[in-house]
Amino acid sequence: MSLYAIGDLHLHYQSVLKAPMQQTGVWRNHEEKVLKYCRKLIHEDDVLLLAGDHSWGHNLSECEKDLQFIEELPGKKVLLRGNHDMFWDAKKTASLNERFEGRLFFLQDNYYPYEDYALVGTKGYVFEGPYYLDGRGRIAGWDEKEKAHADKLIERESIRLRTSFEAAVRDGYKKFIMFLHYPPTDIFKERSVFTDMAEEYRVSQVVYAHCHGERRFNDSLRGEYNGILYRLVSGDCLKWKPEKIL
Ligand SMILES: [Fe+2]
Ligand SMILES: [Fe+2]
Repeated sequence: MSLYAIGDLHLHYQSVLKAPMQQTGVWRNHEEKVLKYCRKLIHEDDVLLLAGDHSWGHNLSECEKDLQFIEELPGKKVLLRGNHDMFWDAKKTASLNERFEGRLFFLQDNYYPYEDYALVGTKGYVFEGPYYLDGRGRIAGWDEKEKAHADKLIERESIRLRTSFEAAVRDGYKKFIMFLHYPPTDIFKERSVFTDMAEEYRVSQVVYAHCHGERRFNDSLRGEYNGILYRLVSGDCLKWKPEKIL
């Protein structure tokens, strides 16, 4: 039994327009690459965690074929909510889990058992600017209104993450792998409420996605910090080959 993760499939089987970036380079026919790697690597008793941004669809009916594509991948599929997942109302995760029971598991305010680990997670959030630079290219300030908005979302997501941890703790779990869609820290920062929580619950790994294009791959932590392994699993970063987490 193994645990794999990949994020940002950005499927679009039912949308008319494809994002321009998805027609060239590493994104060209990425669905076929995902399918090929999954079939090669993942067995039916493995778990595949999809770290958000599943579909361009605006609602559940516009995502039907995209979710079907995910359903048909090998292994047990656990989904995290990404910023593009309009089909997933954060307050209705329980009804998604009822509807897709035995086919897909939606990870939010709950946890997924994997051997003696609990897989916990939430979408997360980071402040992505705008930042204002001085003449030497150093940060001189930022958009206060955007920052206040980001702080509010970060607070809400940290509550959801704690709910996820506590659900697992109540059931006796002591080992955790933590998943976020957004990177765990703001650009230029090394700490956040999310890294603090990862340390508080002594998670062994933090796995996140969302960062696209080589220039963004090092926006946040990667590698080992304070005994925790941080891994970026956005699909284009992995060149569509799911990463083995455990
Ligand atoms: Fe994405
Ligand atoms: Fe994203």
